[in-house]
Amino acid sequence: SAAEKGGHEYFMLKEIEEQPDALANTLRGHFVGGRIVLDEQRLSDQDLRDVDKVFVVACGSAYHSGLVAKYAIEHWTRLPVEVELASEFRYRDPVLDRDTLVVAVSQSGETADTLEAVRHARAQKARVLAVCNTNGAQIPRESDAVLYTHAGPEIGVASTKAFLAQIAANYLVGLALAQARGTKYPDEVAREFHELEAMPKAVQQVLGTVEQVRALGRELADSKAVLFLGRHVGYPVALEGALKLKELAYMHAEGFAAGELKHGPIALIEEGLPVVVVMPSPKGRAVLHSKLVSNISEIQARGARTIVIAEEGDETVRPFADHLIEVPAVSTLLQPLVSTVPLQVLAAEIARSRGYDVDKPRNLAKSVTVE
Ligand code: G6P
Repeated sequence: SAAEKGGHEYFMLKEIEEQPDALANTLRGHFVGGRIVLDEQRLSDQDLRDVDKVFVVACGSAYHSGLVAKYAIEHWTRLPVEVELASEFRYRDPVLDRDTLVVAVSQSGETADTLEAVRHARAQKARVLAVCNTNGAQIPRESDAVLYTHAGPEIGVASTKAFLAQIAANYLVGLALAQARGTKYPDEVAREFHELEAMPKAVQQVLGTVEQVRALGRELADSKAVLFLGRHVGYPVALEGALKLKELAYMHAEGFAAGELKHGPIALIEEGLPVVVVMPSPKGRAVLHSKLVSNISEIQARGARTIVIAEEGDETVRPFADHLIEVPAVSTLLQPLVSTVPLQVLAAEIARSRGYDVDKPRNLAKSVTVE
């Protein structure tokens, strides 16, 4: 009923709007006495200190949350982080031992490939930490440590609030490792945590763009394909934006690393093709920003219809943006938490305009428990 959907036509929009709460609830209780704490912790501080390599294994959007987290975890801990699709990891012969930490990210905690990846890792003596949204699910039950996301039940098959909560939880894992290894001073860990704590407010502000983005979605409903470009943490955001559009609107959509533009994707650009560009902050690394600006100008010159997600007040992108969606200024590593939101809304609204069931896309299941 409309009441269950919080007055919305579909659950997904309600769940998109619940993202500030999902983030706040996921962070709550994890910074106690100046230290990051996990939920179930069957690993000692020494175990965490001994970690010399991290794998993140997951499927779907959860995999994208791992791709985002790689940037933060490597930066904060100086540990190598590999992010891998659970279905690939389990059939390879990954190099694992007791000093390897495998982070298994799963909303449901029941995804077959992720569960088998966990079993494979444990059989090789690796330590396993689960990031999960479902209390007592199989993956957390079989793991050495657990960090629960508190996004609440997610009804929409395409993940939204669970995805944002997974990014936050993965970041807590990174901070816990940095704290154990001493690669960050306690005051730096505290500062990063407090920056995370400010994110629900920033996401709330992005929700102010929902109607603008829905209108854009209606305009784009007849497109044949949409491309998504990003760099650095904006790259996995581009992948997630494309996945949402495929899942919901049954439209050809692809995410690219902006630096790969000249290695293929630019050949796809034709008159009127919508290209979504996820801009980094102009106040972050100048080189990242200026490279993206030149990428947009190139695709616009070739006739693409540019849809630019940029930090508010970023005047340099204006001349190249056919549609500009502004997000609040946050530090570079936290940008995915704000820049993903308009992409979720865009995909949902394009799907709705095309007459599809946003909450139950064809052929997809909320949780893939068969292989
Ligand atoms: C399915 C869902 C996705 C989800 C993926 C992984 O494909 O439709 O939204 O990201 O499974 O699910 P998990 O429960 O392991 O996070």
